[in-house]
Amino acid sequence: METKDDLQCCVTTCGLPLNANYWDKQYQSQETGWDLQGVSPPLQTYIDGLTDKNIRILIPGCGNAYEAEYLIEQGFKNVTVIDIASTLVDTLKAKFQGKNIRILHGDFFEHQETYDLILEQTFFCALNPSLRERYAVKCFELLQDGGKVAGLLFNIVFEKPGPPYGGTKEEYVKLFHPIFDLQQFDTCVNSVKPRAGNELFIEMSKKTISSPHVKLYAISGITCSGCKKTIEENLMHIEGVEMVSINTDFSELMIVTHKPIALARLQQAIAHESKYQLNEFKN
Ligand SMILES: C[S@@+](CC[C@H](N)C(=O)[O-])C[C@H]1O[C@@H](n2cnc3c(N)ncnc32)[C@H](O)[C@@H]1O
Repeated sequence: METKDDLQCCVTTCGLPLNANYWDKQYQSQETGWDLQGVSPPLQTYIDGLTDKNIRILIPGCGNAYEAEYLIEQGFKNVTVIDIASTLVDTLKAKFQGKNIRILHGDFFEHQETYDLILEQTFFCALNPSLRERYAVKCFELLQDGGKVAGLLFNIVFEKPGPPYGGTKEEYVKLFHPIFDLQQFDTCVNSVKPRAGNELFIEMSKKTISSPHVKLYAISGITCSGCKKTIEENLMHIEGVEMVSINTDFSELMIVTHKPIALARLQQAIAHESKYQLNEFKN
């Protein structure tokens, strides 16, 4: 049973899994150091440049949803926010009562719908880095062809364990460019002061690739970066494979192909050791 100490222990240092419970406790204990108390200036500038107020916009891991508030004030008619923390979502429902916004309580990775724009603001960095391939594929799946992801990514490797988890421009480009055309991917010029110089403003549009050609698989048996490299190389040798990326805990594999490739063919390419298993990904 959970004790009062458990509830207070939370938060960023204790190594709890980053699940709904973790995030809910952050809001309950008001440990929300990421919260800017207002719309993020780079996103405000980006929103000011959008002309079509009817586009379908999603803000995943929206937190206090200042960007959504700004969008509504500017007359955007199709704004959806989703967050996994129920305490927060209750607050949002009260705050936005009667406003033209859809507020969803749920897991971004389970959400199914089609959008024109996904706004990113300290959601990617809040996820365990092992979920980055899943994030890229999910954004791809949620967008219509040409739909965009725009927002901010930390371009710094933090010394302290996350969240937030940082990263580098190089690794993000490697992850996203096979499935997105990158329009902006440079150091942000109008970050809030504490983040100045350490974040990228990104704008990227979904490439026209048929959905079955961008896939996530569950993989097992990899125990070190050496075998990870071998598996990636073996799969890259299959005709039609354009990109393979195995996540940081060696449990998921993202693959981009320009023609359909049967699971059995992928399995065959890594069958030199029976410990390697590749299967359909189930959320
Ligand atoms: C660091 S906070 C950022 C909040 C907000 N974007 C901001 O900048 O103030 C990360 C948010 O993502 C939410 N979150 C974490 N994992 C999630 C998931 N799988 N699906 C939806 N929301 C999630 C958390 O509840 C939290 O509100």
